[in-house]
Amino acid sequence: MKEERTEAPAHYQGRMRLSHFCRIQILGFGLILLMAIGFTIQILGIHFPKKSHQTSPLRLVTEEPSQRRCQPKRHIMFLKTHKTAGSTILNLLHRYGDHNHLFFALPYKYQFNYPNSFHAHRVKGYNASSRPHYDIMCHHMRFNYAEVRKVMPPDTFYFTILRDPATMAESSFSYFRAVSSAFKKAPNFKAFISHPTRYYRQGERSNHYARNPLWFDFGFNSDAPFTEMYANAGIRAVKDTFHLVLLAEHFDESMILLKEELCWNLDDVVTFKLNSRGTSRTLERGDIERLRSWNTLDWYLYSYFNRTFWDKVEHFGREKMDIEVRKLKERRQHLAKLCLDGSGPVGAEQIKEEAIKPFQFGQEKILGWAVRKDLPPEVRTRCVRMVTPELQYKDLLDARQFPLGLNNSSVLAATSRRSVGR
Ligand SMILES: *[C@@H]1O[C@H](CO)[C@@H](O)[C@H](O)[C@H]1NC(C)=O
Ligand SMILES: *[C@@H]1O[C@H](CO)[C@@H](O)[C@H](O)[C@H]1NC(C)=O
Ligand SMILES: *[C@@H]1O[C@H](CO)[C@@H](O)[C@H](O)[C@H]1NC(C)=O
Ligand SMILES: *[C@@H]1O[C@H](CO)[C@@H](O)[C@H](O)[C@H]1NC(C)=O
Repeated sequence: MKEERTEAPAHYQGRMRLSHFCRIQILGFGLILLMAIGFTIQILGIHFPKKSHQTSPLRLVTEEPSQRRCQPKRHIMFLKTHKTAGSTILNLLHRYGDHNHLFFALPYKYQFNYPNSFHAHRVKGYNASSRPHYDIMCHHMRFNYAEVRKVMPPDTFYFTILRDPATMAESSFSYFRAVSSAFKKAPNFKAFISHPTRYYRQGERSNHYARNPLWFDFGFNSDAPFTEMYANAGIRAVKDTFHLVLLAEHFDESMILLKEELCWNLDDVVTFKLNSRGTSRTLERGDIERLRSWNTLDWYLYSYFNRTFWDKVEHFGREKMDIEVRKLKERRQHLAKLCLDGSGPVGAEQIKEEAIKPFQFGQEKILGWAVRKDLPPEVRTRCVRMVTPELQYKDLLDARQFPLGLNNSSVLAATSRRSVGR
């Protein structure tokens, strides 16, 4: 029985032997053909480009733009919220715009008249009758879509970043202690958390940092009583305007989503943490609950966009995300080793160069990075750019965009020519 099953009938065996023979012949012929082609190629000196693993230290070749089907986005609006890793994102936007000679919508100083609502005439060089062409807008503002639209092109990509209001409050308290009236009145953070209403008065100086600061930055009323209808209306407005909402707690995943949506390369989103504090406290469960309920509107907003964020990750593919995040971390480590003096961030007093010294503000030290001295000039410049804080970088871009000062008619002529050119 068994042999009958494995052994094919005689006539069939014959066909098999025949086709077996044919296959060997075809294989042999194929091999000769391949050898001939290979030989011809060698003679003609044709060679196929080999994927280079030898990359220049500050460029990554694993993702050549030509292999992507998308066009890199260059019209970008980033709403920089407070205490949410926004300074680090500003660095990558500054770098990208700098490298690609894009034109920034800059404030006269360092913010667009914050905490007042954004207005187009706060943009340097803006002129309603001869609109210059702006590519990137990313400095602190209280968002006002109607005005932003006057400045930015219609195909602008809008994105922003959120953070859990509990950990955010801890960071805000330490940073804005001296400016916010509610924070200043409280003897310490613990006291503030326990009885925020004891210290908080609506409308007092800089109190937008003390309650629902995200809601405020989006241009909404941060003192409005919570109702689901009101909160959902705000969420809808954010969802309809912003193409991507990132989470500070998941910074690396955020960078991968951003890179994908902007069609940028990995190196474009590699950063070192900027404007970070030396210390931060861990919150107890009860404190977290109290802070979330004190900042109800922000918590509602955060919870909603936390869901959409993970939906996006799911859609992108968890496994693919893990791989991409690993690549990002490796690249960051590689560049840290190449660029940085020492393995971690350092206090401002240890940074000799003014161009990369972090601005000190608030109760705790703001850390920065020291760049190795022994680098070839071109590499060093790129390294320095990666750790240039937002204020100094804004000054650099400002000087490049308005080399003759703002009221010089030749500069205004140059910016309006750009608007005609596109
Ligand atoms: C705006 O541009 C128009 C036309 O180029 C010019 O005549 C006018 O002086 C400009 N306004 C300002 C405030 O620069
Ligand atoms: C965010 O969403 C994830 C996935 O649904 C969930 O596991 C996590 O608890 C959420 N985080 C917060 C702070 O709500
Ligand atoms: C430049 O122009 C602005 C707005 O038009 C004006 O307010 C400012 O005084 C001018 N500055 C100088 C130095 O002329
Ligand atoms: C504008 O810049 C040019 C070139 O530097 C200079 O000759 C001119 O005096 C400047 N005009 C004003 C009004 O500052």
